[in-house]
Amino acid sequence: MKLNAPVLDIDALISDPSITVIVCTGAGGVGKTTTAAALALRAAEQGRDVCVLTIDPAKRLAQAMGLSVLDNTPRKVDGVSGPGGKGSLHAMMLDMKRTFDEVVEGHADPDRAQAILDNPFYQALSSSFAGTQEYMAMEKLGQLRARASDEGTWDLIIVDTPPSRSALDFLDAPERLGSFLDGRFIRILTAPARGAGRGIGKIAAFSFGLFTSVLNKILGSQVLADVGSFVAAIDTTFGGFRERADATYKLLQDDGTAFIVIAAPERDALREAAFFVERLKTDEMPLAGLVLNRVQEDSELDLSAEQATASAAKLERLDGNRRLTASLLRLHAARQLICLRQLHLAERFTAAHPGVAATTVPALPEDVHDLAGLRAIGELLARKPELKSRSK
Ligand SMILES: Nc1ncnc2c1ncn2[C@@H]1O[C@H](COP(=O)(O)OP(=O)(O)O)[C@@H](O)[C@H]1O
Ligand SMILES: [Mg+2]
Repeated sequence: MKLNAPVLDIDALISDPSITVIVCTGAGGVGKTTTAAALALRAAEQGRDVCVLTIDPAKRLAQAMGLSVLDNTPRKVDGVSGPGGKGSLHAMMLDMKRTFDEVVEGHADPDRAQAILDNPFYQALSSSFAGTQEYMAMEKLGQLRARASDEGTWDLIIVDTPPSRSALDFLDAPERLGSFLDGRFIRILTAPARGAGRGIGKIAAFSFGLFTSVLNKILGSQVLADVGSFVAAIDTTFGGFRERADATYKLLQDDGTAFIVIAAPERDALREAAFFVERLKTDEMPLAGLVLNRVQEDSELDLSAEQATASAAKLERLDGNRRLTASLLRLHAARQLICLRQLHLAERFTAAHPGVAATTVPALPEDVHDLAGLRAIGELLARKPELKSRSK
């Protein structure tokens, strides 16, 4: 599929020494994890020292990358190196609860840390709250970056993003969670009397009172007390969740960061990609380009869907013995139609975002579950457009 867009030159991107963080994002299931791992492998084999932070690799892929010990820290992937022995690949899989625990342990004295870790509200928040995974992915990225610059371990960090329905969650959830935890709402919720004292008004105080008493009934007063003591403990240990989220957000605006937006050639995924691209612009975050993954390649055969269908019909009429040829022609026609529809969707995107560079990766016949598969995806990602087959 040949797109009417500037070429996303993957090799130029991964070999650019000024690029130190690449973030792979997109809607759920489009190939973020695969792309992140494939880029990381390719960059390492071209001589960079790479760390890839995956969030939810499929089991077989995780095994292929040597991710059998899940200790929330990067491990070297065996058998990966570049020209002249330069280059290496480290991989890890995010453990969101562990990461949260480490944040707490790193910021509080042991007794207070233990009190927080034991707090039931903390336990719920760190293992299941919406947004925690996104928040912790950013937190981990911040940690890896700090380690890379302190110890010189990696010169490129590639980040996969959580399997949220919406790509925007990666940018929004940490902030949302941060303001929720830092917010007035939770303070008022946990101390309604204080809220009233601060002049939010009798009626508001009354309804908050009502609200908390309803919550009390639903959740139990113990839960609210847990939330209260958790927020108080967190507040005194480190400067608040919001500030922390803000700091990592800034890292994403850095010139050394590049976003890659991945989409399937489908309406919803491309719409999601369009939202995300616009958002990056608004937030002044650097976009490298779009990867259109799992496209139907058009065949070398110079035969349109209409021609193939017409010929198939003719063969079926003429001669019953040519059924096989006829069904192959019909298959060809169906694929050409898929191809055209995908191209049409892609062109809607590129027309609306003319400056955005793009590349395509065909749908492989099998899932990508080993280093060889990742290498193949890397090759395809970096393919120059003159080698991609022409669309008619
Ligand atoms: N180009 C491709 N061809 C064939 N299978 C692919 C391709 N890209 C991704 N896959 C497969 O699709 C599934 C989802 O990919 P994944 O990278 O986990 O998506 P995401 O991280 O966006 O949820 C995986 O099983 C993966 O092996
Ligand atoms: Mg994934």
